[in-house]
Amino acid sequence: MHTITLGDGLQTSAMGFGAMAVTPVYGGTDDASALAVLNAAVDAGVTFLDTADVYGAPEPGTTGPAGTNERLVARLLAERRDEVVLATKFGIVGPIGADAGGGGKRTRGDADYVRAACDASLRRLGTDVIDLWYLHRRDPDVPVEETVGAMAEMVAAGKVGHLGLSEVTAGELRAAHAVAPIAAVQSEWSLWSRDVEAQVVPACAELGVGFVPYSPLGRGFLTGTLTREQVAADLRGSTARTGDNWEANQRVVDAVGAVAQRLDATSAQVALAWLYASGRRAGLPVVPIPGTRSVTRLAENAAAADLVLDDEALAALDRVADLAVGGRNIAADPTWISVGRE
Ligand SMILES: NC(=O)c1ccc[n+]([C@@H]2O[C@H](COP(=O)([O-])OP(=O)(O)OC[C@H]3O[C@@H](n4cnc5c(N)ncnc54)[C@H](OP(=O)(O)O)[C@@H]3O)[C@@H](O)[C@H]2O)c1
Repeated sequence: MHTITLGDGLQTSAMGFGAMAVTPVYGGTDDASALAVLNAAVDAGVTFLDTADVYGAPEPGTTGPAGTNERLVARLLAERRDEVVLATKFGIVGPIGADAGGGGKRTRGDADYVRAACDASLRRLGTDVIDLWYLHRRDPDVPVEETVGAMAEMVAAGKVGHLGLSEVTAGELRAAHAVAPIAAVQSEWSLWSRDVEAQVVPACAELGVGFVPYSPLGRGFLTGTLTREQVAADLRGSTARTGDNWEANQRVVDAVGAVAQRLDATSAQVALAWLYASGRRAGLPVVPIPGTRSVTRLAENAAAADLVLDDEALAALDRVADLAVGGRNIAADPTWISVGRE
C-alpha cells in the first residue's frame, strides 16, 4: 500500500480504516471478529485507523463519551502500536441521530474539556500519543479559536501529533488554521454526498490541509449490497435517503454498479477510487476511511487504492449525485453538518 501525505506533514496509508464499524453501529459484531478485522487491516497495510471517544456503547457506571471503541482499538495497539497511525476524536457529548430530541448539550469545546478529553482518550487507548486528534463537532457556544488553542497545547505537551477538524465550514477551518496547523478535515464526502466540494474542499486545497472522507461508501448504500430491512434496523433508517426515498435512490446504486461492471471492479472499489480522482482534480490529498466488519471486504476496499478510473467512468460517476434524493444529514439539526452552517 502506498502512502499519502495529508497536511502538516502527516503521512498515512493511502487507504484508512473506519473503526466505528467494529463496535455495533450498522449491525452487530463481537470483540473477536472486531480484532480480526483490525489486525487484517494492519496486515494489509491499511495502517491509518480512525476511532472516536464517542463510538461504541456506554460503559457501565460512566457518563459522557462511550469509549468502548477506543478500548477495543487499544487491544490492537497493545501489540502493534508502532505500525499504526492512530486517529481519534472528541467533542460529542450528547445524543446524535435524527430522533435525538432536544435538551442537553451535544458538543463541548471549552478548553478545560479539551484537556480532559485528551487525557481520557490516551488512557482508554493505552498509548502516550494520538497521531491525529480531531474535533468531532464544533461547540457553537465556544469560539473555534479557543478549542483549537487548547488542542494545540496538547501538541506542545507531546500528547498529540497533528490536529484535525470534522464537519467544519470553510470559515471555521480558516479560523482554526490561523491558530494552529490543521493536518486534515474529516467530513462526509462520497459519490452521493458532495456538498463539501463547494467551499470546504477548495479551502483545504488552498491551505494545504488534507481531506479524510468519512462514510465514503455512503454508509454502505453505494455498494449495492444493502437491503431496505437492514437499514431500517439502525440509524440509517431514519435518514432522508431511505424510507420513502429508498426506491428512488436505487438509481444511484444502479449507476455505480454499471461502471463497476464495465471496469470489472466492485461498486465499493469504484466509490473509493472516485474519491482519489476527486482529490486529484481538486488539488488536495485524500485518504478515505471505509468501515467494515468483514476481513474479505476489508481486502476488497484496500485494493481500491490502486484502481484508476478512466474518463468515461469519471463522467458517469460525476452524474451520480444528481440522482440522489434526500439530504445526507443523520441529525434533525441542520447545523450538525458543515453545509447546514454555510
Ligand atoms: N467524523 C464523523 O462525524 C464520522 C461520521 C461517520 C463515520 N465516521 C468514520 O468514517 C468511517 C466510515 O464511515 P461509515 O462506517 O459511516 O460508512 P462507510 O464506510 O461508507 O460504509 C460502511 C458500511 O458499508 C459496508 N461495507 C463496507 N465495505 C463494503 C464492501 N466492500 N462491500 C459491501 N459493503 C461494504 C459495511 O458493512 P459490513 O460491516 O457488513 O461490511 C457498513 O455497513 C467510520 O467507521 C468512522 O470511523 C466519521
